[in-house]
Amino acid sequence: MCGIIGFSGTADTKDVILGGLKRLEYRGYDSAGIAILNNDKINMVKTSGKVDQLIELAKKNDSLTGSCGIGHTRWATHGVPSDVNAHPHMSSDGKFAIVHNGIIENYIEIKNELTRKGVKFLSDTDTEVIVQLLDYYYDGDLKKTLVKVSSMIEGSYALGVLCTDFPNTIYVAKVSSPLLIGVGVGENYFASDITAFINKTKNVIDLDDGEFAEITANKVFIFDSKLKEIKKQERKVTWDVTAAEKSGYEHFMLKEIMEQPASLKATIEPRIKDNKISFEELNIDIKKYDRILITACGSAYYAGCVGRDIIEKVCNIPVYTEVASEFRYRNPIIDEKTLVIAISQSGETADTIAAIKEAKSKSSDVVAIVNVVGSAIAKLADYTIYTWAGPEIAVATTKGYTTQVAILYMFAIWAAHKLEKINDDTFASLTKDIKSLPERAQRTLDLNTRVKKLADKYYEKKSVFFIGRYLDYAVCLEGSLKLKEISYIHSEAYPAGELKHGTIALIEKGRLVVAVCCYEPLLDKIISNIQQVKARGAQVLALAVEGNKKIFTESDDVLLVPKTNELFMAVMEIIPLQLFAYYVAKKNGCDIDKPKNLAKSVTVE
Ligand code: F6R
Repeated sequence: MCGIIGFSGTADTKDVILGGLKRLEYRGYDSAGIAILNNDKINMVKTSGKVDQLIELAKKNDSLTGSCGIGHTRWATHGVPSDVNAHPHMSSDGKFAIVHNGIIENYIEIKNELTRKGVKFLSDTDTEVIVQLLDYYYDGDLKKTLVKVSSMIEGSYALGVLCTDFPNTIYVAKVSSPLLIGVGVGENYFASDITAFINKTKNVIDLDDGEFAEITANKVFIFDSKLKEIKKQERKVTWDVTAAEKSGYEHFMLKEIMEQPASLKATIEPRIKDNKISFEELNIDIKKYDRILITACGSAYYAGCVGRDIIEKVCNIPVYTEVASEFRYRNPIIDEKTLVIAISQSGETADTIAAIKEAKSKSSDVVAIVNVVGSAIAKLADYTIYTWAGPEIAVATTKGYTTQVAILYMFAIWAAHKLEKINDDTFASLTKDIKSLPERAQRTLDLNTRVKKLADKYYEKKSVFFIGRYLDYAVCLEGSLKLKEISYIHSEAYPAGELKHGTIALIEKGRLVVAVCCYEPLLDKIISNIQQVKARGAQVLALAVEGNKKIFTESDDVLLVPKTNELFMAVMEIIPLQLFAYYVAKKNGCDIDKPKNLAKSVTVE
């Protein structure tokens, strides 16, 4: 949940690190720090607060020069956000400085042991044990010491280490937290995410778990725990630097909402061959499974809920959903006849990783739907389907979600065809419907101005209910999450028919109810639910399909979205709800791209 970066080269190290931290800030933003090695001295500045505060402090600090440095932006796990707990952490003698992303699970035992040996700790973090261990066991051979310390710590870590004995050199280590090396010309980088250095180089080496590297301006030496060199392939990142920039938009979230037609196209089109969906990456015999279990967290889980309904409908196979954070504790009844689909934009989510491990331990095959190429989940799963949505920087997911939904649509009809539940003609016609989604999404974005006006009308609401039935309810879950996470307004999603079993007690005069009414076979049902809340004084903002006239007499406000096959409406439904959340949050002056208490990838349980 933290962002780390390191650089060795001749450019201005301070600028490179601070620029990288700014790009990484979405990974955590409660404190930040930088350390630069200048010959035999490490100079460090760190502070609680956002990267901009660090930049202000660093500007005034003339000691931050040198050709090699590390930086960190934090989402606190152990110890409150404070200057002392911010990274980098330094050994008491100033010989080592480290940045760390991950969690050291056995830090208390190590801390107690080192304290007994006389080591003084300054912070409340788990990370500090690493730097103190390095200092304690260091015998002049840093590679050896790093390997030794790595064998003593348990948990997850991506580490960047500076040591005054090795000017111009950074050492890194990785287990279960992302770490990439950026290979430039006469300069090299490491970071938790390519966005940190995409403006400098697109050549990347993915470090695997248990690997270490020694990085200087001209050389990257990768080694294993026996100190043996490992030769690794570089890969080239295909997307451009603008993908990781705001490109004139006020917020990444708005940019990413607007990018959805393009990201859907990138997800869908390469997988359509001869007017039929094909998944080259899925070498499975779908007939082998008697059930499907979808697991994920947050929005990815809600995408899974849409997927569940569609797959069940077209494949006639039982599909269950399970929140990944609960998966392993429920001792799920799965076996080799269960296909587990794990969904994750970042590919780093700890709970989803744990769920995949649980599924594999029970002999289930795991298909992962992932956006970030080479991420932990992509590597762990038996099969990986990339969403190819491009980098998603705003903490609240938008294009990540819609591209996950698109993959699930495609999977559903691909599987239905393989299972002989649909014939060639239906397969081709459903493929055509899916192919039209980017264009439909583009037209849905035309609602932008109207949604903004509605946000101006409703932004002061203290509590909002999202209601829908069947597929529409699955979208309500995501619409409600979008609103609450970025605007901090209480909101809940309810299956519309369930409201009267208790929650309707909360419906009172002026309560806003967003009714998603796009699944037309159940239109009459939801209209009667709308009447129930209207009768209790609610204001209703309805989302319906173009051509629906009836809805106008039932609701206070209506947003009409383009029509497509009723199975595939979720993509069109969520776009106005994303925009609504965005404009409500903006009107309330919220920090939209970096909502409080959140971080982009949740790498802790
Ligand atoms: C909400 C949001 C989160 C993520 C969840 C899973 O806008 O982004 O709910 O969907 O933390 O993250 P990934 O998809 O990276 O596994």
